[in-house]
Amino acid sequence: MKVSVIGAGNVGATAVQRLAELDIADVTMVDIVEGMPQGKALDISQAAPIMGYDVDVTGTNDYADIEGSDIVVVTAGIARKPGMDRDDLLATNIKITQQVCNNIENYTPDSIIMTVTNPLDIITYAAAKCTNLERGKVFGMSGLLDSSRFESFIAKEIGCSMKDVSAMVLGGHGNSMVPLPDHATVSGMPLPEIMDREDIDRIVERTINAGAEIVGHLKTGSAFYAPSAAIASMVESVLLDKKRIVPASAYLDGEYGYRDICLGVPVKLGKKGVEEIIELELKAEQKDALDRSAEAVRSSISKI
Ligand code: APR
Repeated sequence: MKVSVIGAGNVGATAVQRLAELDIADVTMVDIVEGMPQGKALDISQAAPIMGYDVDVTGTNDYADIEGSDIVVVTAGIARKPGMDRDDLLATNIKITQQVCNNIENYTPDSIIMTVTNPLDIITYAAAKCTNLERGKVFGMSGLLDSSRFESFIAKEIGCSMKDVSAMVLGGHGNSMVPLPDHATVSGMPLPEIMDREDIDRIVERTINAGAEIVGHLKTGSAFYAPSAAIASMVESVLLDKKRIVPASAYLDGEYGYRDICLGVPVKLGKKGVEEIIELELKAEQKDALDRSAEAVRSSISKI
């Protein structure tokens, strides 16, 4: 099997490292900066004897090398700096996405595409429209990252293992995202039964701002360790047909009452990409929040 990762920057290269360590598929990393993907690929390859993986890791500036990919992960584009919103990246990243999609169409037209570049839901929508693939084959990574952030804050607050927390974040990957504390559990116990509403609200707020909190510390770019972990986990679910149920930005055609939009919803991920969109029962206030999030995404989509 083969995975291609477009963009060999912080997110792309770290994703390649994590994918190599899974040892399930060869990995090709593409970037426009000469020598950079080649150098990083050599570096990752030279860790293989220590880490014990046998897959090939290559770096290239030539899109022809993505031919025959089972899945292409798109991380090409600029990242946020302090004071920037994800939407501030739109004008630049939409052009890059268009170029990347043209290359995917030319060299590996049947691949599944997973977008990571921000603003995520708008970029995913653009990729879906550019490539015209069947709808389950284009989706975006964001909800699993936001959910992981939410889960990590819950586990820290409770002082329990990260493994015992399960939580979900829906909606657009931006300030309008919709963490669902009422659906969160700690070892099967509903979160609202074991945590005060005030603490839950504080954690929800921190989850929504988690990306900006990191940008504020880094100053020169945005998060990449947790994003790359989410990428590797989702790629694994596709390649190994694991059918994991995770939130992802999917093209909606009536689900949750929305049409012609990409938005974070729970999906089943397998060999065919998004194989099912799961429609949760939402309380009125949660559905209102999701409506507002869809509206925010739709307004950005209208700009492209
Ligand atoms: N083809 C291939 N690579 C490209 C192209 C292109 N047309 N245009 C830009 N790139 C590359 C850049 O050369 C750079 O190496 O994309 C890479 C982006 O890397 P970083 O600047 O380190 O950004 P990163 O932190 O990886 O974030 C990438 O993912 O999470 C999102 O918001 C984030 O939109 C951003 C994207």
